[in-house]
Amino acid sequence: MRTAIIAGNWKMNKTIKEGLEFIEGIKGKTEGNAEVLICAPFTLLKDLKEATKGTNIKIGAQNMHYENSGAFTGEVAAANLVELEMDYVIIGHSERRQYFNETDESCNKKVLKAIEVGINPILCCGETLEEREANKTIEKVKGQIEKGLANVDSKDIEKVVIAYEPIWAIGTGKTATAEQANEVISEIRNVVRAMFGDLADKVRIQYGGSVKPANVAEIMGQSDIDGALVGGASLKAEDFLGLLKF
Ligand code: PGA
Repeated sequence: MRTAIIAGNWKMNKTIKEGLEFIEGIKGKTEGNAEVLICAPFTLLKDLKEATKGTNIKIGAQNMHYENSGAFTGEVAAANLVELEMDYVIIGHSERRQYFNETDESCNKKVLKAIEVGINPILCCGETLEEREANKTIEKVKGQIEKGLANVDSKDIEKVVIAYEPIWAIGTGKTATAEQANEVISEIRNVVRAMFGDLADKVRIQYGGSVKPANVAEIMGQSDIDGALVGGASLKAEDFLGLLKF
């Protein structure tokens, strides 16, 4: 059995004060069957980690560099996240691929670095609307997963979470139907199976794209969907708590 993982991706939202207020709003109410995670901007991470000590709320980052250190102005190293005891790091979100030129190759280096330092990577994949309409969805995500997980050791594959996020469903209010999402996610699992054999059954694959309290149960009810990566609906404590009820 795979443990469901519900993750908030706050993107470039919230100050430390707002983040701490949010934690106050959900503290003591998040116990349940799902692993609970908030991925926040870098400057909030230390305070959020402290504020969630002794709870089941895990904290993660939204990016990191793949080099250990050096002349990479503005970047954050894996060691910095280890120092803050981060549990997870999102890798290759479509916004990073789109606006910050991340490639499958750089994502792969980041995945390998995260595993090396003991932080669980959440590797994102997903197709554009044009790709979906041209029936290229599977081809696109297959390439992203094969390249993103290249050279991952079998013993580590369970640490990786995959997030399938169709780009046309992110922040648009358009959700893939639960069946559409499940179909692609089971294909992703087949790609992982071709690479890692039956260990694929242990890898958790989330859906992301306009998930909200009103549709989370239907999405989580699908056979291959093991969680959700949620942007907009993860920003208010009340909505976030609603995401844990499925
Ligand atoms: P959304 O974002 O829930 O606002 O659609 C999801 C994501 O980008 O991770």
